[in-house]
Amino acid sequence: MHPVLSCWCVVATVTLVFAAWQENIRPKMYVQLGAEDVFRFTGNETYTDYFRLMLRDGNYLLVGGRNLVHNLSLTDLTEQQRLTWYSTDSDVKMCLVKGTPEENCQNYIRILVKTDANTLLVCATNAFKPMCREYTVHAGNYTSRREKAGQAMCPYDPQHNSTFVYVDGELYTGTVADFAGMDPIIYREPLQTEQYDSKSLNAPNFVSSMAQGDFVYFFFRETAVEYINCGKTVYSRVARVCKLDRGGPHRYRNRWTSFLKSRLNCSVTGDFPFYFNEIQSTTELISGQYGSKSAQLIYGTFTTPVNSISGSAVCAFSLQDITDTFKGNFKEQSAINSNWLPVQSTKVPDPRPGQCVNDSRSLPDLTLNFIHTHSLMDDLVPSFFGQPIVIRTSFHYRFTQIAVDPQVKTPGGKTYDVLFIGTDNGKVIKAVNAESADTHLKVSPVVIEEIQAFPPTVPVRGIKVVRASQAGDGLEDGRLVVIADSQVQALRLHRCYSDRILSCGECVALQDPYCAWDRFEGKCRALVGPAVTDVNRFLQSVATGLHVSCAPSKTLSKDASNVGAISSNQNKFESMIPIKENPGGEIINIMQDEEQDSSGPEVSAADSPPPQYSVETLVMAVVAGALAALLVGFVAGYLCGRKCRKDEDDNLPYPDTEYEYFEQRQNVNTRLATEPKLLPQEEVTYAEPVLVPQPPKLHSPKGTMRKPPPTPTETLFQFPDGYTFRPRDNFGTLRSHQGDAYRRNDGFATTRSVKKVYL
Ligand SMILES: *[C@@H]1O[C@H](CO)[C@@H](O)[C@H](O)[C@H]1NC(C)=O
Ligand SMILES: *[C@@H]1O[C@H](CO)[C@@H](O)[C@H](O)[C@H]1NC(C)=O
Ligand SMILES: *[C@@H]1O[C@H](CO)[C@@H](O)[C@H](O)[C@H]1NC(C)=O
Ligand SMILES: *[C@@H]1O[C@H](CO)[C@@H](O)[C@H](O)[C@H]1NC(C)=O
Ligand SMILES: *[C@@H]1O[C@H](CO)[C@@H](O)[C@H](O)[C@H]1NC(C)=O
Ligand SMILES: *[C@@H]1O[C@H](CO)[C@@H](O)[C@H](O)[C@H]1NC(C)=O
Repeated sequence: MHPVLSCWCVVATVTLVFAAWQENIRPKMYVQLGAEDVFRFTGNETYTDYFRLMLRDGNYLLVGGRNLVHNLSLTDLTEQQRLTWYSTDSDVKMCLVKGTPEENCQNYIRILVKTDANTLLVCATNAFKPMCREYTVHAGNYTSRREKAGQAMCPYDPQHNSTFVYVDGELYTGTVADFAGMDPIIYREPLQTEQYDSKSLNAPNFVSSMAQGDFVYFFFRETAVEYINCGKTVYSRVARVCKLDRGGPHRYRNRWTSFLKSRLNCSVTGDFPFYFNEIQSTTELISGQYGSKSAQLIYGTFTTPVNSISGSAVCAFSLQDITDTFKGNFKEQSAINSNWLPVQSTKVPDPRPGQCVNDSRSLPDLTLNFIHTHSLMDDLVPSFFGQPIVIRTSFHYRFTQIAVDPQVKTPGGKTYDVLFIGTDNGKVIKAVNAESADTHLKVSPVVIEEIQAFPPTVPVRGIKVVRASQAGDGLEDGRLVVIADSQVQALRLHRCYSDRILSCGECVALQDPYCAWDRFEGKCRALVGPAVTDVNRFLQSVATGLHVSCAPSKTLSKDASNVGAISSNQNKFESMIPIKENPGGEIINIMQDEEQDSSGPEVSAADSPPPQYSVETLVMAVVAGALAALLVGFVAGYLCGRKCRKDEDDNLPYPDTEYEYFEQRQNVNTRLATEPKLLPQEEVTYAEPVLVPQPPKLHSPKGTMRKPPPTPTETLFQFPDGYTFRPRDNFGTLRSHQGDAYRRNDGFATTRSVKKVYL
């Protein structure tokens, strides 16, 4: 091919692929929190607490960490009560003997449930010997009532990414059931997923779970069994089990008969879709109206793999789409190394496997055997808006946690889901999909604020929107609770009051569903109270950022040259009206300041065109621009073509991040080292120590400390004391052919049967 031609081809391909790419949207406000604008709780000053859990109880927030649970008041984050639970000295000693770092031989609270009005169920890692306790809540203190082993409910390793949900008096967990973290499990006493079966769970990192209708859903990422190219890849999944499941007969006695899973598709369309494969967190299920369609949605953050160029996205999935995949085709691999293909519906037994049935014990063997080997569905769950809502490409950070304030009402009655996205560099990004009230087929992301909540080295580990539970509880304005390893913060949901926003145009241009221009008071204010839907008093337009009754905001677009870090005059967190005599509250840099996100490609097309241009000017500018671009493109192409003549492949004309993305997809197989892959259906079966080459775990926001690789001494360690676990059922596992000599009553195995294929 002629070099000039080939260069143009590259240009054409790149343009095609990135036609669907969203640019990094610049926030309208950068916010540096001042001391006045935030409540903080710092926990233990000498040790890192590794705060994780949050449980809201009326006006109180329970935060679990290291050796204790804090009961904090939601109004100002002051500690009200504290539950302390230290591991016994002998448990800690035992943990240390096994070579675990001291940091991990503490009692990390990982499950916290209010089971009734004054009872708390608390499970904790207890120095690698998980335990659960029931506490009675008194005003002032907590009393432990009962204690039981926490295996398969709480992980051993505090860094393990586990999840739980408590519903109808039952605890459902997604975690690991062994010391070495090799035995993933979805568990509800006494039912579990198949042990050591890469087809049911393959080195999963659980991110969340929820109960809905007859089912309990689990969200996680895991090594994909269906990816049969070289190397390995991780996919995001949603799995579900039926609440009525009672296990099957005989060898399926303690197995789920309803466990199914599907892949979540969070990707950018194109000739080659680009996938954000690794789910990091989800919101709870919310119900909303999106154009003419009402739906129940779950929002999630997704990232690219940790060893690739970092990209993050937020995708939404509707419950309907999720359940539809479970009604679709199953997926199977008919022979080793053959492709995974859909199972023809004629081959699916009746009753259809994976449904919720009244008595799962009477299910026929055909159905049970089928579901046991076919838990994966063929269809992917499509993302609700057809594409990610927010995308960030950056070398500096990834998204971690997400929370949503669902269906915030705006004047005129339209409702918007406000997203709060935590990052691993201490930021909280507040965004909305400005089209969401009008259609579910389009996405128009608006990043309203970027808040530096923690120092840039501190990842956000948890985020939660708190709304008033009853009138007069002091939370009418809402709170955003953000947690990091050693700090909890309560922020405002909005900064409409900023003294940088002085005109109607500026207020409307924010596109913040919480803020509107109050004509009566002549200022930008938060929408609280019943009058908010009054369109004559409150001016706002989340969809466009422009309002006919306001002069378009000049300041916002002129600000490009303005390095104005300003201080708002915020005195009290609760007060809605700015008090003018206390500067130093916070710094707000409004839109297009110098202090930009120093990340990723930023192309100005993403910003809405400055409203002061007339249509004619715009058209002329566009035409002139297009002509100029053509000319420049041709010259560049021609020069490039001449240069390409020698080494065509090395001189690609777009050395920017996005290009690397494009390239990354081509190279993904060669870049990931080929590792021995554990496949479930191969020739060799033999027993070997539990120390199996485990794929290196990837980063996720919940992990904090590095886990040492289990040493043989550690995994072969026998517990001398009367470790009285109910032994896990061993029926129908691979190990059962080997006889139970390999299994100890304490739930730890020294050997396991492994089938391997050598590629
Ligand atoms: C901090 O933790 C250490 C060790 O767990 C404990 O001895 C100390 O009392 C804690 N300090 C506070 C203020 O809780
Ligand atoms: C939290 O503390 C408050 C105030 O002492 C108390 O009323 C409430 O019951 C506590 N909640 C829990 C779940 O411990
Ligand atoms: C905790 O409260 C219970 C019931 O009021 C009381 O019997 C107990 O003594 C209290 N314990 C402490 C340490 O205050
Ligand atoms: C995932 O979704 C994208 C965009 O909607 C689509 O182009 C792609 O084909 C889907 N992937 C699969 C494997 O279905
Ligand atoms: C299952 O049980 C419920 C209530 O016990 C009953 O209404 C329903 O008809 C039963 N379904 C089947 C398929 O037996
Ligand atoms: C848990 O998830 C975090 C963030 O995705 C990750 O860094 C960490 O390695 C995960 N933990 C384990 C034990 O895999």
